[in-house]
Amino acid sequence: MNSLLHSSSSPLLPLLFLFILLTLSHPTTLSSSSLPDHFINAVPSPFRHDFYTEYFEIAPPLPTQSLIPSHTLPLLKYDFKNTTGFPVTVPYWPPIECLSPWLSVVLQFRGAVKGVQDDRIVGIWLEGVELLRTSTAQPTETGVYWKVEKDVTKYNSLLTRSNLTLTVMLENTVNQFFTGFIHVEVSMLFYGLWSSTNPAQGATGGDSKFNRKLMNFVDEDVKLELVKGEDKGVVSDGVEKEKKKPEEFLSKQRNGKLESGSKLEIFYDRPADLIIPISDDGGMGCWFKIVNESNVHSKEIQVPQNTYKAVIEIYVSAHGDDEFWYSNPPTSYFELNNLTSKRGNGAFRQVFVTIDDLFVGSAHPFPVIYSGGINPLLWEPIVGIGAFDLPTYDLELTPFLGFLLDGSTHFIRLGVTDANSYWLVNANLHLWLDPFLPTVTAGSIRYRAPDLRVKREAEFKLLDGKCEVEAERKTQFSGWVSYSAGNYTTQVEYEFEFENSIEFRNQGQNTEVEQNIKTRTEVQTEDRNKHHSRTTSRIKTRYPLRIRISTTPGLAFQTFLSITNVSNGIESRSSVSQPHKRMSSTLSNSQVSGGWIVSRDHIVLSGTGNTHQNLRYRDENRCYSQIVVGDTGLILENVVIPFCATNSY
Ligand SMILES: *[C@@H]1O[C@H](CO)[C@@H](O)[C@H](O)[C@H]1NC(C)=O
Ligand SMILES: *[C@@H]1O[C@H](CO)[C@@H](O)[C@H](O)[C@H]1NC(C)=O
Ligand SMILES: *[C@@H]1O[C@H](CO)[C@@H](O)[C@H](O)[C@H]1NC(C)=O
Ligand SMILES: *[C@@H]1O[C@H](CO)[C@@H](O)[C@H](O)[C@H]1NC(C)=O
Ligand SMILES: *[C@@H]1O[C@H](CO)[C@@H](O)[C@H](O)[C@H]1NC(C)=O
Ligand SMILES: *[C@@H]1O[C@H](CO)[C@@H](O)[C@H](O)[C@H]1NC(C)=O
Repeated sequence: MNSLLHSSSSPLLPLLFLFILLTLSHPTTLSSSSLPDHFINAVPSPFRHDFYTEYFEIAPPLPTQSLIPSHTLPLLKYDFKNTTGFPVTVPYWPPIECLSPWLSVVLQFRGAVKGVQDDRIVGIWLEGVELLRTSTAQPTETGVYWKVEKDVTKYNSLLTRSNLTLTVMLENTVNQFFTGFIHVEVSMLFYGLWSSTNPAQGATGGDSKFNRKLMNFVDEDVKLELVKGEDKGVVSDGVEKEKKKPEEFLSKQRNGKLESGSKLEIFYDRPADLIIPISDDGGMGCWFKIVNESNVHSKEIQVPQNTYKAVIEIYVSAHGDDEFWYSNPPTSYFELNNLTSKRGNGAFRQVFVTIDDLFVGSAHPFPVIYSGGINPLLWEPIVGIGAFDLPTYDLELTPFLGFLLDGSTHFIRLGVTDANSYWLVNANLHLWLDPFLPTVTAGSIRYRAPDLRVKREAEFKLLDGKCEVEAERKTQFSGWVSYSAGNYTTQVEYEFEFENSIEFRNQGQNTEVEQNIKTRTEVQTEDRNKHHSRTTSRIKTRYPLRIRISTTPGLAFQTFLSITNVSNGIESRSSVSQPHKRMSSTLSNSQVSGGWIVSRDHIVLSGTGNTHQNLRYRDENRCYSQIVVGDTGLILENVVIPFCATNSY
């Protein structure tokens, strides 16, 4: 690695000039180097700032954004240097300065790094339950910093507990080449439901009222209340001493019902009563490392007998030979060309979940591109969609309570179809418990999980050719649960369609990847003896992705010029309908990026990258649109419309 450090940097040349010179140079065999790849940014500074630059992920702001937290709980401040193979842990106690129930709780992750460093994947777990999967930004010589805030209110049942272990896994390496240590600060922001001196207010249980107010974004009453809470929180030394016995304070406040304050989370109309981690014990972080399809990881669990609803939330990130899984051709492509690359198995991947070896659902991950992906300059200062807050995937497991409630232990297993090394996967099992009954009864009604339908076509002549994969499946599960609220039947229908095509041209120097993933989920619950008991939730998502890369030999020895175009996006629509109530939200978030890099041995020596991002979010209470243009470290345009313009959709 050291020799790489001293490689001379190419000067920044106009693109046209490069083109003219390139046409004169002789093409050499490039093998598979025009596949999307991972790079380390070492572009020198002349056109950059000489101070730390802020990096962003563009996403709808949290509803709490305009409020002052009642209490900020610092949890961790740490410089990650040589942390390969070991997690950092700190104890967690809920703050006595701001007692539960809370209106909202937000996890804040702040990072800063300077010099040369790879992007690193990060997991944060509380007692093995994952709260955030994030990746770090690749720095510049002069340094970058960023902030990630995530609504973690749905983990309320854990957040109210004392003396838990917060685990942060961020495997970094610092040596002569990788000079950037990553400074990290993790805090929890608590937004109190009422001023801390007047807990009696809680008895009126005005949670939905507060939530509605919050959704209106800037409500002076709530804001004032929260500001007052903050003042009281800051007060005294006495508070510090009391910290030793927080349970006393908390026991009275448990089971406070809160609604998630962020985007419409149809699976969590209130936080679960118990969350069971489906994760590793934590010696190497709590994620399971999945290296191939048969490398399935399992956790033995026992579900309380008064569980009336269950949802599994999957956290996933792709790395190594599958970091760009959506561009992987069939293994035969490499064999045909005598190449040793392990990036085969075709382009279809899914995370699957089984209970005692019965398939209960799958998740089709959004292609998150980390800061070093394809062309690192595209992701400065606007990182790829999901890079700072990787999406999670929820599967409704209520129809399976019929056998989960039999009192014995069960194995939940997680795996990845056609996986190459490696995927980091784990899950949280959210359970809702009957507050009045020690046991409830449940039964299965329908289980329909036909085999996955996958159609693959490939035609290659040496390094050129095209391959296509199409996959689809529709599953239907239903079951009933009879508990204190009634005898409810839950029907879950999940359908996905996956389409991918990869084309190589010009002796493999040009690559074009096109992918579309569509999913549709419908969850219906109903007590057939009660009119007006039906709730129907629907989510539709679409992840369109397109990548074009053309790689040719560069001017200098062993360098390559890659011209890169990427467009990536999420579109989703969700709704919840009840007889007298309907809520819906739509999100459209897309990035269109283009640029070029000159690299040697995966080190970027020069280049440019620009990204146009267009975000639109809308629900009953608010609208938010943002158009941002970033170009090689600078923001050229940033237009925010934080209200609902008529006719804009
Ligand atoms: C917190 O938990 C640890 C280990 O689980 C235990 O050793 C310690 O005594 C606990 N601290 C308090 C104050 O309860
Ligand atoms: C990291 O480890 C390497 C090799 O063990 C050592 O040379 C280097 O000084 C360490 N860096 C830091 C910041 O501790
Ligand atoms: C999959 O990975 C596991 C764990 O490393 C290994 O034991 C097994 O042989 C691998 N299976 C295949 C089919 O490669
Ligand atoms: C791959 O290797 C085999 C056996 O060594 C050889 O016959 C074949 O021509 C090679 N194919 C290419 C594309 O180089
Ligand atoms: C609940 O409803 C289902 C179907 O509607 C029925 O089969 C089941 O027997 C009922 N359970 C109880 C305990 O009434
Ligand atoms: C690719 O990106 C370059 C550089 O931003 C841009 O000029 C070009 O129009 C893009 N091409 C396509 C097909 O979008």
